[in-house]
Amino acid sequence: MRYAIISDIHANWQAWTAVLADIQQNQADMIICLGDVVGYGPRPEEVLTSVRQHTQNIVIGNHDAAACGILDASIFNDHARSVVEWTAARLSPESHQYLRTVPLTLEAEDMLFVHAEVHEPGRFGYIESEEDALHHLMGTQASIVFVGHTHKPLAYKANDESIKELPDSDFHLAPGHRYLVNVGSAGEPRDMNDIRARYVLYDSSSRAVYFRKVRFDTDAYRQDLAAVGLNIEPFFLKIIDHEASQGRDVLAAMQDHMMSVPEKAIFTGNQAASHSLVAGGTAPPPAAPPPSAPGDAFIESLPPPPQIPEAPAAQQTRAAVGGATRPQQPRLVKADLSQRETAYIEPEKSNNVGMIVLIIGFLIIGAATAYFILFGS
Ligand SMILES: [Fe+2]
Repeated sequence: MRYAIISDIHANWQAWTAVLADIQQNQADMIICLGDVVGYGPRPEEVLTSVRQHTQNIVIGNHDAAACGILDASIFNDHARSVVEWTAARLSPESHQYLRTVPLTLEAEDMLFVHAEVHEPGRFGYIESEEDALHHLMGTQASIVFVGHTHKPLAYKANDESIKELPDSDFHLAPGHRYLVNVGSAGEPRDMNDIRARYVLYDSSSRAVYFRKVRFDTDAYRQDLAAVGLNIEPFFLKIIDHEASQGRDVLAAMQDHMMSVPEKAIFTGNQAASHSLVAGGTAPPPAAPPPSAPGDAFIESLPPPPQIPEAPAAQQTRAAVGGATRPQQPRLVKADLSQRETAYIEPEKSNNVGMIVLIIGFLIIGAATAYFILFGS
């Protein structure tokens, strides 16, 4: 199986469609989306609708959770919160309802997919060091964990004795090791040396990980921002503007061809993906031509935004079946680490409460029985 793993699209239509074209060109069998489909960007409804047309395998990110109201937006800073509120107002009721059903994690084969962290996916903490990565790898039996959230593509390679950070270069899994791979951000790349959209292809047959870099139409994105009146300037636009002020064209410098991904191995035997995931990466792209800025030849073949129906469409299938390891509608509790835009969706505690009540009940009955045996007569 060849998986395309994409995260942090952040309502960036141009980045999503450019990545989608690269995914299809590289013959991925299945798309896994690691969340933060919305937030920041100007086209939340169009991007979410299109992502859902191409995969049912989506885990929820903190921006998605805040936008649909299951994560308290007050923990975001003022600027981020205003965009969350703007996003929430532009999502259809059906999209709100859908996001509330998206799981925190998915599993397949020996893989785990989660937006931010392993131990408590609803906490949305940050994995930013070898120590962090080791801590979270110890929280799962999976051989390879895919995350997003930090917008920094890289990997960690661990065995029983050590862990090592790897750069965002293609690699094969080594026997006896486990991996944590951050796929980076498709829609909000924050690498000042490379502002292309990022995602990862993982070929589970050849055990190969490919870090993909895809150019997208930043002019059209800027026009989308202006059209909706959204007062943000993402990092990649700041880089473009800064380089332009120095007389440099940062996009022109990124037209080098990447190493191509090899043809897929011939598929033999019954190696279908785990029941935890739903096949859904084969939907055709939308049909009509996209809006594009004059002179941006490289995006001319990109598909356009989908037509969003006036009324909510018929109920769609749940995002994932059988693979959710957390409740489908996590509850909101008090946030922490607000300066990091981090919040906390509380894991299920009802079983613990029930056990405590049961134990107390047994203790009371035991004490009463002992009392009557000793003093009852
Ligand atoms: Fe995130």
